[in-house]
Amino acid sequence: MKNNGLPDDAFDGRPIIGICNTFSELTPCNAHFRGLIEHIKAGVLEAGGLPLEFPVFSCGESNLRPTAMLFRNLASMDVEESIRGNPIDGVVLMAGCDKTTPSLVMGAASCDMPSIVVSGGPMLNGRFKGRQIGSGTDVWKFSEDVRAGVMSEQEFSEAESAMSRSPGHCMTMGTASTMASMVEALGLALPGNATYPAVDAHRARLARLSGRRIVEMVKEDLRLSAILTREAFANAIRVNGAIGGSTNAVVHLLAIAGRIGAQLSLDDWDKFGQNIPTILNLMPSGKYLMEDFCYAGGLPVVMKEIADLIDLDCMTVTGKTVGENIASAVNYNSDVILPREKALTDNGGIVVVRGNLAPDGAIIKPSAATKSLMKHRGRAVVFEDIDHYKQRIDDPDLDIDETCIMVLKNCGPKGYPGMAEVGNMALPQKLLRNGVRDMIRLSDARMSGTAYGTVVLHAAPEAAIGGPLALVRDGDWIELDVEARKLHLDVSDAELQLRLKDWNAPQPAMQGGYQSLYVERVMQANHGADLDFLVGCRGHAIPRESH
Ligand code: FES
Repeated sequence: MKNNGLPDDAFDGRPIIGICNTFSELTPCNAHFRGLIEHIKAGVLEAGGLPLEFPVFSCGESNLRPTAMLFRNLASMDVEESIRGNPIDGVVLMAGCDKTTPSLVMGAASCDMPSIVVSGGPMLNGRFKGRQIGSGTDVWKFSEDVRAGVMSEQEFSEAESAMSRSPGHCMTMGTASTMASMVEALGLALPGNATYPAVDAHRARLARLSGRRIVEMVKEDLRLSAILTREAFANAIRVNGAIGGSTNAVVHLLAIAGRIGAQLSLDDWDKFGQNIPTILNLMPSGKYLMEDFCYAGGLPVVMKEIADLIDLDCMTVTGKTVGENIASAVNYNSDVILPREKALTDNGGIVVVRGNLAPDGAIIKPSAATKSLMKHRGRAVVFEDIDHYKQRIDDPDLDIDETCIMVLKNCGPKGYPGMAEVGNMALPQKLLRNGVRDMIRLSDARMSGTAYGTVVLHAAPEAAIGGPLALVRDGDWIELDVEARKLHLDVSDAELQLRLKDWNAPQPAMQGGYQSLYVERVMQANHGADLDFLVGCRGHAIPRESH
């Protein structure tokens, strides 16, 4: 390391801080990290540590195919082994785009050393034709408008430019903003981490302060296992309900908990998420964007508003408790962060539904759904896989109306390796043209955190391994009752047994390479879709005293 100009005293026992960087030009949400890291390094040096940057696999949502989620676990292995095998004492995790955050925290959790997250921050608000537009959320709306013939392709392209006007990640409450909020709620990042825009000098200051703080955390031996407790996960689940966070947080938090060894199950999402009001008026549940959330005071204000519902004694990377961190938070805009009596919904937590169609559970996000569809019985219109859906959805002869339930199969962790975000299927063009904007959609897939609608996701076991979803046929009747937590296929057990005998597993999309390992070892969504052999904490290979 002397070939990098390090003098002898760089190895005098001072804390060596790894900075795990997900910079990549193929991950545009993280493309500004080369500048951001300099502030972290400055902070580490100021506190007497030695900063050493290392790159890891960067899961960019917009470019990676078949889906960035396929590579979350791969990236987490890269992070874990980079941390474990190198002589570092603490680590700063630089995350931004959706899957970069969980992949880094999962990898670090399997090593359990002092760790702090610095998120890249959201883009500035989008503006188009005099109004605010949000990444993802308005893309879904505009693409439906294009399909309905009320927006031109040219206008669509202009709108896309208008919503991508600065460095940073999606500025709606999509998965990136949700996961940045989750790490703050879990206590893994400094207060303010979730909301400062990427280009705001506050972001640079937070990075610098995080650099200083990780050095202190090493001296205090404040490790992830002291922060990532079951109570901290309960807090994060409650905060997710309060902010109308992404359904993707379900699989990510389950996977992180599995790594650190905290007890957390799918049912805990329902248990801890109940009676949590959605008080953040942000797209896709509400109308504002992350920049507005920042100016309103950020996540500490939301946590203070629901302080009676969360555990204030949880330890955080500041060395202080959650309660101490949020004590001085002030709400500067009560139309962005609503008072509880004006909540968007009184029950915003993710709901877990079960029944003969999803014995191991499926989830729905009530704050993004249509109230009148939360209890509904409809005729199934079935798509065997994503290609079948694409072939069929705009067929003028497709027998479908707005009371039907659209069912998509073979898009779970193994079926569409990585469990793609296709659960929020676009509605048939002929219904869109008639003004229909929501229908119940059911699948074993995920959906983008920026999406909305009455969408039942993550059905487990998935269709590709012979879960009951595989047995649904056109014309079957399905009953969804969110309040009763029920998802029922109105077909007798005897008939389902007969159908199962006729069922053939779909052929894997690709043989060989990482994808084969993934398909062989990935667990179902209700277990976080981690690879089974990655569950657990394996510690650090090089004790500090032996550096
Ligand atoms: Fe990266 Fe949306 S594409 S956060």
